[in-house]
Amino acid sequence: MRVGLAGAGRIGAFHAETLHALDAVDEVVVTDVDGAAARRVAESQGLGLAPDVETMLASGIDAFVITTGTLGHAPLLRQGVAAGVPTFCEKPVAATLAETIELADLVATSDVPVHVGFQRRFDVGYLRAREAVRSGELGFIHTVRANTHDQSPPHAGYIPTSGGIFRDCNIHDFDILRFVLGVEVKSVYATGGNKGEAYFAEAGDVDTGAAVLTLEDDTMVLVSSTRYNGAGHDVRLEVLGEKGAIGVGLDDSLALRSAEPGVDFPRGPQKWSFMERFLPAYRAELTEFIRLAAGAVPSPCTVADALQAFRTAEACELSRAERRPVALTEIKNAP
Ligand SMILES: NC(=O)c1ccc[n+]([C@@H]2O[C@H](COP(=O)([O-])OP(=O)(O)OC[C@H]3O[C@@H](n4cnc5c(N)ncnc54)[C@H](O)[C@@H]3O)[C@@H](O)[C@H]2O)c1
Repeated sequence: MRVGLAGAGRIGAFHAETLHALDAVDEVVVTDVDGAAARRVAESQGLGLAPDVETMLASGIDAFVITTGTLGHAPLLRQGVAAGVPTFCEKPVAATLAETIELADLVATSDVPVHVGFQRRFDVGYLRAREAVRSGELGFIHTVRANTHDQSPPHAGYIPTSGGIFRDCNIHDFDILRFVLGVEVKSVYATGGNKGEAYFAEAGDVDTGAAVLTLEDDTMVLVSSTRYNGAGHDVRLEVLGEKGAIGVGLDDSLALRSAEPGVDFPRGPQKWSFMERFLPAYRAELTEFIRLAAGAVPSPCTVADALQAFRTAEACELSRAERRPVALTEIKNAP
C-alpha cells in the first residue's frame, strides 16, 4: 500500500515513521507547505517526497494521512474525500464548529472511509476502563476525573491556530469520556488562567484550563489541562463508581511524587511527551487505519464522533468567555 502524508511537523514526522514500519505499507510519501520540512523528514526516514498535496493525490495513493496544523485539516479532508482516497485526519477535524458540522455531513453522505486521530481509543488502559464501566464491575459511576497535562508548551506559532486549550488538548478527554462511559455531556462550566508565556493570553488562550461537566446520566466529571506540567507528561482518567474505582495512567511513570514518608510509588522514570506516553496506541491506531483503507474494518472514530467531542470543547470555550454554565443544547450539531 502507498500512503501519502501531508504535514511533516512534530506529529507528522512521528506518524510517518510508524507508517513506514508497518508490514502492510510499501511506501510513504510526504509533503508539506514548508518544502524543507518535508525534505528533512523524507531524507532522514528514507521516504518519498511530493511537491504538494494535489500532485500526491494524483500520483495514485491508497491512503491519505493529514497531520498539518489544525487550519489545514478541513481543506485537505475535503480534497481526500473528493479524490476518493481513504483518509486519516489528526484531531481536531477543523478549527471551527461550522466546518466540523459541514465535514461530518460530507463524510456521512460519502462512501470514502475517514478515521479521526483520537489515539486514546487504542490505549490498553482506556480500553480496560471501558470494559470495567460497561461490564458493571464498578457499579454506577458517580465521578470521573480526566486530565491532559503537557510537560512543556508547544512552539509559540502553534498557539494562535490551535483553537485554544479545550479544542486542542481536552478534546482528547471529551472524546475518551464518550468512548469509555457511553454517555453524552449535558452541560459544562469552564475556566482557565495564564501564568506562563505571554503568547497564550495574546492569542486569547489560557495555558491552564479546568472544567466541570455534567453528563446526561448525572455523572460529575472534573477535567483539567495545562501546558506547564514540569514533572512530566501526565494524562490520566479516574473512574469512581458505587462498587469500585479504576485509574488509567496510574503506573510507575506517573508524573507525581508522594508526600507520604516511606512511599516509593511512583518509582519512575516519568514520560515527557505524548509520543512516549502513547507510542503503542499510535501504532495500533495507524495499523487500524491501514486496515480501514484496505476495506477490512469500519472507521473506529468517525467525523460524527469528532463533532461530539468538538461540541463539548466549544461549550467550554463559550463558558470560559461568558463565565457561565453552558448547556450542550446551545451548541449546534447540524447545519
Ligand atoms: N493526536 C495527538 O496526540 C496529537 C498530538 C500532537 C498534535 N496533534 C495534532 O496534529 C496537528 C499537527 O500538530 P504538530 O504539533 O505536528 O504541528 P507542527 O506545527 O509541528 O506541524 C505542522 C506542519 O504542517 C505543515 N502544514 C501546515 N499547513 C499545511 C498544508 N496545507 N499542507 C501541507 N503542510 C502543511 C506545517 O508547515 C508544519 O510543518 C495539529 O492539528 C494537532 O492538533 C495531535
